[in-house]
Amino acid sequence: MTEKIIHMKDVSWICDGRHILRNINWDVNPGEHWAIIGLNGSGKTTLLNMINGYLWPSKGEISVLGRRFGDCDVRELRKFIGWVSSSLQERLYTTETAEEIVLSGKFATIGLYDEPDKKDIKQALSLMEQLGCKHVAGQPYGTLSQGEKQQVLIARALINSPKILILDEPCTGLDIFSREQLLSTLEHIDSQEFAPTLLYVAHHIEEIVPVFKHALLLRRGKIHSVAKTKEVLTKSNLSDFFERPVDVQWRHQRAWILVLAK
Ligand SMILES: Nc1ncnc2c1ncn2[C@@H]1O[C@H](COP(=O)(O)OP(=O)(O)O)[C@@H](O)[C@H]1O
Ligand SMILES: [Mg+2]
Repeated sequence: MTEKIIHMKDVSWICDGRHILRNINWDVNPGEHWAIIGLNGSGKTTLLNMINGYLWPSKGEISVLGRRFGDCDVRELRKFIGWVSSSLQERLYTTETAEEIVLSGKFATIGLYDEPDKKDIKQALSLMEQLGCKHVAGQPYGTLSQGEKQQVLIARALINSPKILILDEPCTGLDIFSREQLLSTLEHIDSQEFAPTLLYVAHHIEEIVPVFKHALLLRRGKIHSVAKTKEVLTKSNLSDFFERPVDVQWRHQRAWILVLAK
């Protein structure tokens, strides 16, 4: 049997007596990319923090890349997981150049303390080229546009050739063109040999591009749906999920949603 990328069995996280996540059962198989959708506060980031071992389940069982939490060193495991989020963006040093930010991913540090060698610098620039942000090399990170910052962060996450790449609302604050550019980057990543498993968190349905063939809908800490994207993103299922009527239109293999009057 092939090893699962993520296996969660009856996972709950309880904080101050409140169930933030409840009975999560979810398996991610090799070669699958997943979209995780939920409104603000539904528990998406909490779920991702569990995968990264920043939070431990109050109940249930988790294994990531075949390693069972409790039996493995999560710091070792984290080396295989790339992470992109707006909160990370705020923690980075604005005076470092774009390529220094990318290189700091190699050492998994905030700030570049180790001297990178020529090979590392070449790799950083090559990744920036692939992600369409090589033109900002040499520019202080703080001066980049929101879209360029996100591209740099993805390059930073990819420099360690992760097995899982987590993108937590990476399109927040992007204009529609920067958003489309970022989404096409994900298609590019998927086309590469040894592409990481992509876990894409969003609350906008239209950001689910065709590489995401599976989707998990999270509502108030519970799984509402977990299945193939095409089965999940239907008018009736989404209306049930959002608890109000919505219409869904498929265009260019993406679902676009319209909120209907009650
Ligand atoms: N460390 C924490 N302590 C207490 N409550 C938390 C903690 N982290 C998250 N929560 C709560 O859990 C819920 C889900 O949060 P989060 O996972 O960040 O949602 P999402 O990412 O879907 O917007 C929120 O109500 C939030 O306030
Ligand atoms: Mg969140």
